[in-house]
Amino acid sequence: MRNGIKVFAPATVANVACGFDILGFAIDSPGDEIVAKRNPNSKELRITDITGSKLKLPYETDKNTATIGILNLLKDLKINNIGIDLEIHKKMPFGSGMGSSAASACGGVFVVNELLKLGLEKKELIKYALDGEFIASGGYHADNIAPCMLGGIQLSKDANYYRLPLPKGLHVLMVYQQVEILTKAARKILSDTITLQQHIEQNTNLAGLIIGLYNADYSLLKNSLKDVIIEEQRKHLIPNFDFIKNITSFNNALGCSISGSGPTIFAIFDNTINMDAAKESIEKELVKQKRRFKIYESQINQEGTILL
Ligand code: HSE
Repeated sequence: MRNGIKVFAPATVANVACGFDILGFAIDSPGDEIVAKRNPNSKELRITDITGSKLKLPYETDKNTATIGILNLLKDLKINNIGIDLEIHKKMPFGSGMGSSAASACGGVFVVNELLKLGLEKKELIKYALDGEFIASGGYHADNIAPCMLGGIQLSKDANYYRLPLPKGLHVLMVYQQVEILTKAARKILSDTITLQQHIEQNTNLAGLIIGLYNADYSLLKNSLKDVIIEEQRKHLIPNFDFIKNITSFNNALGCSISGSGPTIFAIFDNTINMDAAKESIEKELVKQKRRFKIYESQINQEGTILL
């Protein structure tokens, strides 16, 4: 048995405009790192260090998204009295819409599976990672967890996950402005009802997006990466939303919307020249406004959570 293990769990974009709660993709960077070590002098799971989070995240294992799933996993496998020390190194802001809690939840169960050589498949670990994610969002939806664990762009249906094909050369711009939006709160503001017209448009967009991915049809992707239900209800929570979206559209993005429940805004491009031009204009404006922000550029991650 190895003494210490380190894993990487990527940031993710949930919803992907028209796939509320069912669609998500992972990006190469940033991503959390989780380290697990056996501790022969202890008989329990402990969090020994948390770095990189300005927010005070709980060290109690029954409250932290990284450890809730591990506790359930160990309980199901009837593994008791085992000393595991966990370090959580956060590389993305909490409450940012970049799947921070999912990254910790996936990294946590994955690292323990490796450390103890439990031999569970990634798909089996998702169930436990979802337990961790539940306390952050108040719902069981795998739109961050599935891509974080498995990589790529994932469609969740019931407890099954389907990897959709990815056309070559897609680049993702992520604009995070420092405003915290908690998923639970951002879900409470959503209306329970939609119109028939919204249902038709959103379904057409989702179908178009899936066909666009299968056929590598960039113009269909551009025509389909639209959200006619959620974005309008949440965008007031995000400073400069319309400005940023307009800039990405001016620079020929294939689509731009809220990443998860925000405040991060994502935009997908089919080349880096347009992406860099959009980035420069957005940066200039946010600096002028003296905003605290961070812009990430990445490709779509194919591996999901991995051993380092
Ligand atoms: N799909 C969720 C939401 C966020 O937008 O509320 C991520 O799970």
